[in-house]
Amino acid sequence: MRIDIVTIFPEFFDVLDLSLLGKARQSGLIELGVHNLRDHTHDRHHSVDDTPYGGGAGMVMKPEPWGDALDSILGDGAGARTTDGAGTTDGGVTHEDGPILIFPSPAGDQFSQAMARELSLEKHLVFGCGRYEGIDQRVVDHYEARGRVRLVSLGDYVLNGGEVAVMAMIEAIGRLIPGVVGNPESLVEESHEDGLLEYPSYTKPASWRGLDVPPVLLSGNHGAISTWRRQQQIERTERVRPDLVTPHLLPPANAKTTTS
Ligand code: ADE
Repeated sequence: MRIDIVTIFPEFFDVLDLSLLGKARQSGLIELGVHNLRDHTHDRHHSVDDTPYGGGAGMVMKPEPWGDALDSILGDGAGARTTDGAGTTDGGVTHEDGPILIFPSPAGDQFSQAMARELSLEKHLVFGCGRYEGIDQRVVDHYEARGRVRLVSLGDYVLNGGEVAVMAMIEAIGRLIPGVVGNPESLVEESHEDGLLEYPSYTKPASWRGLDVPPVLLSGNHGAISTWRRQQQIERTERVRPDLVTPHLLPPANAKTTTS
């Protein structure tokens, strides 16, 4: 996968040299380009923002540097669709294999594990990190008319800019690319993958500060262990995130849930 990021703080993304994503870059699974928006300004002060039309607090990011930066990545025709804006169709399925341009924004669709999985199948993601009071709306409108554009929110709170949101999204998306996480089984039993939160995990020693590992995990009975883990997932999800629990996932009322 190719990932391009446009930002006024390229240093933010230096940490993508580290850990699993760093390795994925070294092995060529992820190719990363970080672009400084200020390199696409043409005035003496390299200004990227100006006061809002209509008045109001704060500054708005100017469209010209964004247009220049994004054209240099996407090409002048924006290139995000395979035909002139309509996508190609194949057996009734719309198929769009150009890049997706993503603007992190508290006004966007809520990011989720399902969205991360969907985006992990793409070949090219381009992230545009806004700052201040946001980017001139015409930038979104311009590229929306030419290709796939998404506004994506990390959650119902306001960050100072898109950089932290993009870091979180890249980590969630990147680890789903085949080969990035060494043991693919570790992706299966995670929070949110099956709609439930994950079960609690334990390692040695079996007793620590008077707290014992649940005996079922030491029993060697794999059926009992998976029943217990499933039950823990359901109980935890009902307690912490009742909004996620859907009745068809719950085990039948007579299901055996303990080993004793
Ligand atoms: N930029 C500012 N706040 C944000 C949020 N909650 N999600 C994504 N991008 C943002």
